[in-house]
Amino acid sequence: MPESTVPEVPAASELNPFAPVPSGPKRVRTRHFHNAKQQGIPITGLTSYDMLTAQIFDQAGIDFLLVGDSAGNNVFGYESTLPVTVDELIPLTRAVSRAVTRALVIADMPFGSYETGQTEALHTAVRFMKEAQAHAVKLEGGVRSRKQIKRIVTSGIPVMGHIGFTPQSEHGLGGHIIQGRGAAADQLIEDALAVQEAGAFAVVLEMVPAAVAALVTARLEIPTIGVGAGPDVDGQLMVWTDFAGLTEGRVPRFVRQYANMRGVLTDAVHRFKDDVDSGAYPGPEHSYE
Ligand code: KIV
Repeated sequence: MPESTVPEVPAASELNPFAPVPSGPKRVRTRHFHNAKQQGIPITGLTSYDMLTAQIFDQAGIDFLLVGDSAGNNVFGYESTLPVTVDELIPLTRAVSRAVTRALVIADMPFGSYETGQTEALHTAVRFMKEAQAHAVKLEGGVRSRKQIKRIVTSGIPVMGHIGFTPQSEHGLGGHIIQGRGAAADQLIEDALAVQEAGAFAVVLEMVPAAVAALVTARLEIPTIGVGAGPDVDGQLMVWTDFAGLTEGRVPRFVRQYANMRGVLTDAVHRFKDDVDSGAYPGPEHSYE
């Protein structure tokens, strides 16, 4: 058989890059996202803001961890993501990067850290890579952010795009409103193509109708990651405090709660307080001789 016709045997990790650990890749790379889309293997992502959750999610085989600017609501107690700064996100990103051995760690570029131009955007992305050991960055906006994405990508830093409902533009968009309905679907497709053309390795579609997300997913070569975008996308991302039931009050319709961590912790803290009040804790087994 001439050398050129010898069939190539792909490595196990290339066959199924998102297979559960340990047969998956040692480290998830952006090329694995590309392979996953081609092979129809769903990509999973969660937000993470600290070392302990990052370890748990990484060991469970979650493919990427986003250190989201949703830390504004979930860590810092702001009402939105708008006040969050690069200086606030860098230590969180560093903690997550240190904790993982497999997942791709993506740092979210906060509002005010990339809008004024390509130089500012690259400066912010470099800080996340250098000071926080992120593996990639994410930024919001389609057509309006294409130059920034291109500049960062050509400097060797992978970028994940984010279109549809973009929380940093909450006030401009008039609130938490589903994007891409009716005639607005054309703009969404234009945004998706702009992000792809600029060199992003994947794009988040947040709060868009399922049918439109399916259309965008079929048009793009890069994977789409849905946050409230229905089932016909290439991957799913959830904010961990929502999916684990830690968030207080209502969560968006697209969230499925897999645990009731708020209930579990509330119960635990009440029992601790009762035990201290009654003298039941500490017992002899918790005391040194
Ligand atoms: O900050 C974040 O958590 C996000 C996701 C909701 C996409 O940007």
